[in-house]
This record gives sequence, structure tokens and C-alpha cells, in this order.
Amino acid sequence: MARRTSKSVFPTLPAVAWQPGLPVHGSPTWVIVVGEAGLPDAAKEAGERLKVDLDRLLEAQRDGGFSTSAGATAAYPLLTGEVGEVLLVGAGDGSPADLRHAGAAIARFGRGKDELTTVVAEGIDDAGLQAFAEGIVLGAFTFHRKTVDPGKPVVERITLTDGSDTDRAAAIERGLVIGRTGWLARQFATTPSNEKDPAWLAARATELAAVTGLEVKVWDEKALAADGFGGILAVGQGSTRPPRFIRLDYTPDGAGKDTPYVVLVGKGITYDTGGLSLKPREGMVSMKRDMTGGGSVIATMSALRELGAKIRVTGLVCAAENMPSGTAYRPDDVIRHYGGRTTEVKNTDAEGRLVLADGLAYAVSELKPDVLVDIATLTGAIKVSLGSMLYGGMFSTDDALADNLADAGAAAGERLWRMPLPAEYAELISTPIADSVNSSKGPGSITAALFLKAFTGDLPWAHLDLSSIAESPADALEYTPGATGAGARLLTTWLTTENPTAGIG
Ligand code: BES
Ligand code: MN
Ligand code: ZN
Repeated sequence: MARRTSKSVFPTLPAVAWQPGLPVHGSPTWVIVVGEAGLPDAAKEAGERLKVDLDRLLEAQRDGGFSTSAGATAAYPLLTGEVGEVLLVGAGDGSPADLRHAGAAIARFGRGKDELTTVVAEGIDDAGLQAFAEGIVLGAFTFHRKTVDPGKPVVERITLTDGSDTDRAAAIERGLVIGRTGWLARQFATTPSNEKDPAWLAARATELAAVTGLEVKVWDEKALAADGFGGILAVGQGSTRPPRFIRLDYTPDGAGKDTPYVVLVGKGITYDTGGLSLKPREGMVSMKRDMTGGGSVIATMSALRELGAKIRVTGLVCAAENMPSGTAYRPDDVIRHYGGRTTEVKNTDAEGRLVLADGLAYAVSELKPDVLVDIATLTGAIKVSLGSMLYGGMFSTDDALADNLADAGAAAGERLWRMPLPAEYAELISTPIADSVNSSKGPGSITAALFLKAFTGDLPWAHLDLSSIAESPADALEYTPGATGAGARLLTTWLTTENPTAGIG
């Protein structure tokens, strides 16, 4: 299979192919995936090919400290024959989550290599094989601007086999596309902000729309003013790089007026300095990632046609750069959002909710969807509530929507924890001057969610505050250090289930 390369729109991913039956020669490196239950069924035959007793090798590696926990690795050189190396990789309990970790470990090990032949247990189900492929893509992620190439490009090709003659290409393909959404979102969030601004984000969305069968419309600053997007304009007015509002539409073949309709709204702050309410030195670092939600929306939209999503979806991205300057918006300013609702600004660093409010109000009045979901790195407080890298925060006005999203998050390896939306706290964001303030004392993630709720009409709505899973501290599992690109995999997984809006409303 040819290496998948692309000019610019899509990243270069490892070519992952299913091989019915064990390959006769295979590559110089063979990978044997070992679960709690032991070696894969095809290990005996593989051992004969490699002229290695894999039972004894596993025994010896176990004595040397190798465990079969997900993603653990042990490499063993072979000094005779064509195959130079065997890698044992732990698959834990064989669950999709553990297989995703194993896939990532293999891709990480494969950096700089041409090809890996990988033997997995016979009869892994589709969810497991798909997760394994997702892990391979995510573990292969690279991004750098080094002048001296580190010489560890993405592994070119990974051949998967369980020794049987089944065809498992479909599950692998779905895993590769979902993994690619994670890669794209991570690439967008990792891109430094001297390279990316709102217009850059709009250009990436436009490029992807052209090759993935989406309609696209972009509002520049003049169009934003004409249509009354006061929140996006206010946040963006301190920057020399003007804001944008991006709309992507996906309509499945054969859609009718009963086809369910979901609108996604992403926070696309391409850099968050805090504005005049300037962030402290340490708090500003990493704020190039403050468009993670918007990037995830774009990445999600790019996969819907390939994966055959059955519902209509519109993706909206509210893009602005939050900078302090002589033209910046101020604390005490009153801004008028799309549709007319007003906000008194108390902190220019609570900018995400101001741009999202415009996007939500636009969706409610112009698009009238069945379901509304916004996604953002909205508050630091959600990290205090949920810690790092375990759960993203979810708020919802609809139990079925919350359940459907939580299920998709669990399946995708981006778990969500539902938070409360108590009406009692709404008074915390009240002011005599406007319809609400953008910042207050108290439970920061909840008051942010309550601020947004006022812009959602009576639609079934969910708000995803993913600051808690948007940044990985380590090169571990399916993550590389830095941006994770959180949200794309969970949204793509949800929107491509059989019935994403089941039970909602
Ligand atoms: N982008 C930040 C939230 C954030 C913080 C994301 C840390 C990732 C890591 C957001 O715009 C922000 O600054 N929120 C403030 C809100 C406050 C001023 C009400 C916060 O969380 O401190
Ligand atoms: Mn901020
Ligand atoms: Zn922000």
C-alpha cells in the first residue's frame, strides 16, 4: 500500500493495513501484542517464521520486568534471519481503551522506521480494532519547527494481522479517520500563534471543506459588524489580526426535513493574553491552545462525510485573538451580542463565553437545530474540579444528550464528567447595568456555563469545558506533551453513531 501523503490539508499518517494470514516475510521488525490472556493465537506460527520461541521470550521478558499492562514494551534483537527485532507490547485487558494505549505505544516505538508487522489476538472486536488504529495515529503525532530535523518521522507502514483470513479493513479505516480528527485538532492547537490567527483558522476550515464535501462561509470583521456579532468583535478589537466567524455545513446524501440537525459551536481564541485583564506570566504560557474547541469542531466536520454520518451538522467557530492595546475592549464596557442580549464586562480574560454567546445566539435564531453543543477551553476552574487528563467537564439541559455524549466520550477515550447547572447560582452573574456580567466570584465553571445557558433558547444543549483534558504533561498513552486536541474524537464518535439524537428533547 502506498504511503499516504498529502500536500497540506491532511497530515501524513502511517499507512495501516490489514493483512489476511501471516505475511511470509514481513518487515525487519515484528510486533507481538500480548494481552492478560497471553500471546496471540498466531504466535506459534509467527514464532516459526521468526525462528524464536515466543513463549520463552515472553517468559524471559516477564522475568526482566515486562508486564502486559497496556502500552508496556520490551524489544528483543534477533541476530539471525531477515527479521532483526521483536517487540512485545502489552494490551492490558484487551478493552478498546487498553488497545488504544497499545496502538499508541507501537507508533511511538515505530518513529523513524519504515515498517512494522504487528500480530494481534484473533477475534478482537470492531470497537477494539478501531481503537487500536486510533492509538496508532495518535501515537505517531509529530510537530516541530526545528532547524535540524530530529530524524524521527512517522512510521511509514504498519501491517496488522491476526493470522486468520478475515477482512477487518472497515474497522481499521474508521479508527484511522477518527484518529486523524484527533491529530488535526492537536496540530491546530500546537501551531504557534505567530503562525495562526483567526484568518488562518478560517483558511484551514475552507481548505478542509473543499476536500471533505462541506459548505463553508466566513464572516470577516465587516460582515461581523453588519450582522451584530458584538461579542466576537469586542474580544477581537484589541488585536491587529481581526476576528472571524466560520460556518461549516454537512448535509448527508438523501437528507430530508426530518433529518435530525445538530449545531456545534467552538471557542476559537487563537491566543488568550487575557486582554487588559492581563494574565500573569506563567498563566499565559500555553494559551495558543485556547482555540482547541474550535479546532476540534473543524476536525470533526472534516470526517463526517467519510464516516457516513446520518444527520445534518453545522460547525460554528468563533475566532478572535484576545490582546491588550489602545483599541482593546475594557472592563466595564457593555457589549451587545448577536440578537441583542447585553453583557457588562468585568474581566476581559473571561472572553471565551463572550464569543461563544454570539455563536449560540446565531444558531438559535438562524439555524434552529434540534440539539446545540458548544466546546471550549473555557475555565481554569474546571481543572481545579476535575484535575488533569481524566475527565472533561460537561453541562447539559437534557439527560439523554448528556448520556449520549458521555457514552461517546467513554468510547473515544475522552471521558466526560457531568457537572450541575443550578439556577440558584444565576444571581452570581447578575448586574444592574446589563443582562449579565461575564465574570463573578464563586464556582467559575458553573457560572460560565450559566452565562452561556441564557443564549441557548430552550434547545437541548450541552456545554463541554475541556480545559482539564486539553494539555498533556507527558509523552504517554495516546498523547504527546502539550496540546491534546481534545474533543474531536468524542464529537466525531458521537455524530457517527447510529442515532446521535436518540431520546433527546
Ligand atoms: N482560556 C482561559 C481558560 C483556561 C485556563 C484554559 C487555563 C486552559 C488553561 C479562559 O479564557 C480564562 O481565562 N478563564 C478565566 C475566567 C475568569 C477570568 C472568570 C479563568 O478560568 O481564570
Ligand atoms: Mn481568558
Ligand atoms: Zn480563553
